[in-house]
Amino acid sequence: METTELKEKIKTMENIDWKNLPFGYFKTDYNVRCYYKNGAWGKLEVTDSEYVNIHIAATALHYGQEAFEGLKAFKGKDGKVRVFRWEENSKRMNNSAQGTLMQPVPAELFKEAMITVIKKNERFIPPYGTGASLYVRPLLIGSGAEVGVKPAKEYLFMVFVGPVGPYFKEGFKPVSIQIVRDYDRAAPLGTGHIKVGGNYASSLQASERSHAEGFSSVLFLDAKEKKYIDECGPANFFAIKDNKYITPKSVSILPSITNMSLKDIAKDMGMEVECRRIPVEELATFEEVGACGTAAVITPIKKILDRENGLEYLYCKDGEAGPVSTKLYNKLKGIQLGEEEDKFGWNFIID
Ligand code: PLP
Ligand code: COI
Repeated sequence: METTELKEKIKTMENIDWKNLPFGYFKTDYNVRCYYKNGAWGKLEVTDSEYVNIHIAATALHYGQEAFEGLKAFKGKDGKVRVFRWEENSKRMNNSAQGTLMQPVPAELFKEAMITVIKKNERFIPPYGTGASLYVRPLLIGSGAEVGVKPAKEYLFMVFVGPVGPYFKEGFKPVSIQIVRDYDRAAPLGTGHIKVGGNYASSLQASERSHAEGFSSVLFLDAKEKKYIDECGPANFFAIKDNKYITPKSVSILPSITNMSLKDIAKDMGMEVECRRIPVEELATFEEVGACGTAAVITPIKKILDRENGLEYLYCKDGEAGPVSTKLYNKLKGIQLGEEEDKFGWNFIID
């Protein structure tokens, strides 16, 4: 490597304020790509370009043949790099592929891409103790040209990474959210249960309005009856009551891998787990509520405003996260950072 380039890289590293990273795009050294053409996946390619050369008629651009994933890698106290539950993200990406008639990505390819891109960008993995992590963003798009509404014959799978801080800038501090009834994120028989770009496009109006009105996120209700809690922007919803971990059962929410993990942790802590419909009025009876997801981790909620009728539900009266949410958060983070025994076998260690 040229000395000037090396100096530039060292300067970048010295300038990263690991403890105050936002959740956002961060330019790194490399990303990886793989093309599906003529009925087969090609070889994984490593590139330093942040751009994609794409056909003007690619189905991703016109008909939304696009799915993405989000997972995290953590530097542990022991210096090891752990990736959390990548197999679940690989499975979910293929559910999304199936739901939008895209070519699935073989788990082995997903794994190779993930390992390669993490290793190639090792210098961007946040140090232990900073609270930051390396966010891994796989995406799959229809790259073949079609003008009629039909699935592409060619696909492009890519993965980029970047160091991130908490999704909600408050971190593990309680936030306020807003129930909306004049927007839906996903229809019951639509694509809410898979991770496709269109779901996020349809959530933008509600979520930007909620930010402008001073809220961290929107709480969507079920689109059919508007009676039950669905999910909380880019995160699932959970509540605590009488030693129970309660989370919505709904066909239009994304099955969160964080939520799945918290259910196991809660059971292991001796709590009962209920996955069922949650009527909005039940919000008044909960001891603690929170949002959970890869980006959100656990974000405690202190206030939920029902935008239409002005009703408010208040939690965290002392301004801090509740005791159960705190225990769940510490356990999950402890496992991810290698501080707690990985008794469920969730971590994959990058050698
Ligand atoms: N719900 C939505 C809509 C999301 O975008 C995410 C983020 O991936 C989640 C829930 C949380 O899922 P996970 O815990 O797998 O990141
Ligand atoms: C994640 O939690 O990984 C997400 O994908 C949320 C995101 C849409 C920012």
